[in-house]
Amino acid sequence: MSEVDEGSITRAVLDSLRDCPHPRLRQVSEALVRHLHAFVREVEPTMEEWRAGIDFLTRTGQICSPSRQEFILLSDVLGVSMLVDAINHRFGEGATESTVLGPFYVENPPEQPSGADISGDAPGERLLVECTVRSRRGEPVADALVDTWQSDAEGFYDVQRGDATQLRARFRTDREGRVWFWSVVPSSYPVPNDGPVGELLRAQGRHPYRPAHVHFMIGHPAYETLVTHVFIAGDRYLDSDAVFGVKRSLIKDVERRSAGLDPAGRPIEGPHARLTYDFVLAEMTGPEAR
Ligand code: BEZ
Ligand code: FE
Repeated sequence: MSEVDEGSITRAVLDSLRDCPHPRLRQVSEALVRHLHAFVREVEPTMEEWRAGIDFLTRTGQICSPSRQEFILLSDVLGVSMLVDAINHRFGEGATESTVLGPFYVENPPEQPSGADISGDAPGERLLVECTVRSRRGEPVADALVDTWQSDAEGFYDVQRGDATQLRARFRTDREGRVWFWSVVPSSYPVPNDGPVGELLRAQGRHPYRPAHVHFMIGHPAYETLVTHVFIAGDRYLDSDAVFGVKRSLIKDVERRSAGLDPAGRPIEGPHARLTYDFVLAEMTGPEAR
């Protein structure tokens, strides 16, 4: 019988993984055990603290449902989602930077023609969003699918209000790689904080807010899919995003205009805001690349 103690337990668990038939699983399991044991050695939890930790994770799982993923939110507020995102999107110079997907994406949003107004009856200041999609060589990317979704001026997504689809749509870039649409200026908003993750943020003395942004997911068979946001310059939470998703290159000013022409050359009645962004896609590098 081999006896383990505080000094030998880590080695004993690592040794138990010797015959794991899957090399990647063995690597991940070994790292998990080494880092988890190092964490416990550093923190030296009391039995009560250890139970509280288990209880927190249990409640995090219990609150999950088809429409709520508290574990991803936990990963978000601990900066893990952004770290995994950074590791998986090392495309080097030139490509638009990525950021977290978030819980409010809905697959296959309704496709709309450029120029559509996607605001429905959402409250907020009228916003004209104009984008281009290009390759790193500067060529327009035609026929890219551009999914967009955002909060309204009160900080709510349609799925939170339970309303019909609004402030989300899919567009297709034209031959010049352009897409444009009408929405409303989004507002900063708190991440869901009525569960264990909210409790954690409060206990850590942190606020739950994300700075105002418009989400984009841009896909084309020849390019890596880009998942990103454009953040509204001047937002008070740009320096303290609860999920660490802000990158300087993704912050844009919203211009206020009293009148003007839309990208199709039609006059725009009355005051409106305008947000433009030029996205750059990285060419596909994975096994899917042809
Ligand atoms: C979002 O931007 O929609 C979001 C991202 C992470 C957590 C919560 C919300
Ligand atoms: Fe968001």
